Amino acid sequence: MASDRFQPLQGMSDIAAPEVYVWQGLETEARRVLHSYGFDEVRTPVLERTAVFQRSLGDDTDVVRKEMYSFQDRGGRDVTLRPEGTASIVRFVASAGLTPAARVYYLGPMFRSERPQAGRKRQFHQLGAESMGPANPAADAEMIALQLHLLQAWGLDGCVLEINTRGEPEDRGRVAEALRAALVPRQEELCEDCQRRLQENVLRILDCKRSGCGAVVEALPPITDAMSDASRAYFREVLDLLDRLGIAYRENPRLVRGLDYYQHTVWEITHNALGAQDALAGGGRYHVDMDGAAVDGVGFAMGLERVLGALQAGTGEPPSAYRPPDVWLISLGREAFIENLLLCQTLRRRGVSCGMDLAGRSMKAQMRAANRAGATRAVIRGEREVEEGTFVLKEMAAGTQETLEMPELLNRVLALHTCPPGTVEPTL
Ligand code: HAM
Repeated sequence: MASDRFQPLQGMSDIAAPEVYVWQGLETEARRVLHSYGFDEVRTPVLERTAVFQRSLGDDTDVVRKEMYSFQDRGGRDVTLRPEGTASIVRFVASAGLTPAARVYYLGPMFRSERPQAGRKRQFHQLGAESMGPANPAADAEMIALQLHLLQAWGLDGCVLEINTRGEPEDRGRVAEALRAALVPRQEELCEDCQRRLQENVLRILDCKRSGCGAVVEALPPITDAMSDASRAYFREVLDLLDRLGIAYRENPRLVRGLDYYQHTVWEITHNALGAQDALAGGGRYHVDMDGAAVDGVGFAMGLERVLGALQAGTGEPPSAYRPPDVWLISLGREAFIENLLLCQTLRRRGVSCGMDLAGRSMKAQMRAANRAGATRAVIRGEREVEEGTFVLKEMAAGTQETLEMPELLNRVLALHTCPPGTVEPTL
């Protein structure tokens, strides 16, 4: 094992074959589904001004207080590795002056300096989607439907949707008052952070992970009790639409989500294969004011490591993008090697995936490499074949082989392939 110097940092991983093909399979399927809902991809920088996250997520959230990778760059600017995607998207939408109805998705690494454990990493990957526009229950229901559609398309069963509302902005004061009134008599049971939050940001107490606080929170009245009729009607409409769409959900009156930008609908998707870190995905409606530009939207993000963990724990086979090579070229002698190099390039340009040994190893070692790569066929050439202009085609699974001339060999190998559009048909 290489020394620590050559390992990734704690809580971060290399993703390599064969696993990377499962990642690619998930990504390809996700893009297909997202395009069918009219979402465009956007790739924002991984590094942003710290203020982008501080203002939108909220100063008193766990992410901003304890988890951001923030530092000063060489120019003395405060910058942060993105801990999530929504704030960057809001910054992008505001700066690009996009139409208020933009629909975008993103896929990539996020960074949170949390204590690593199963399902919790310091670099993890999110697939997220954001649908911009003013509060509209149909838009919220559509995003939930999209998120469940993605999970289904990946073959993941057994997901549970938990849903609640944070109400409209005008409810905030009333909700905070009601929570404070219920919590003050039990404040001794709260952790130090939550005792401070009681005055500063009482809603955050609802997502405190400490067991003492959890027991107090369990006994609280639903926050919807303190909300306006309009907020409750909005939420009822979201739930009615989910019913009409045949989407099952569990109302969780204590779900508030750990970020300050949310208003109205909030939800989380959990999976019991994940143990303590059981949140596969989270989302909700938000309003963010960024340097005077107000952006409204609804969106979600899923943790891809957790999605993969749930898929691997179940019976479902995650979609893999791996395709074994169609052909492996085996050379005996220098002349055959040079001719095979040329043939290899020719076949690749015709869309055939093709491999060969470049180190001049023995026939046995070359056959082993063909098997290891899972090649469907081997094309074997020695001096005699080069002289006669023939090839030995071996079907790896059946073990059968026959001697062919070039036109017949090409017909066989290309039978399953068409030249991809835009490629040049080389002359042989
Ligand atoms: P979030 O709940 O903080 O929401 O993260 C979404 C998902 O990212 C989680 O459900 C989880 O699967 C994954 N995740 C978060 N932290 C970690 C970690 N340390 N290790 C592994 N996976 C993790 C957001 O990020 C919001 N931006 C979602 C959103 C989009 N709301 C509206 N639009």
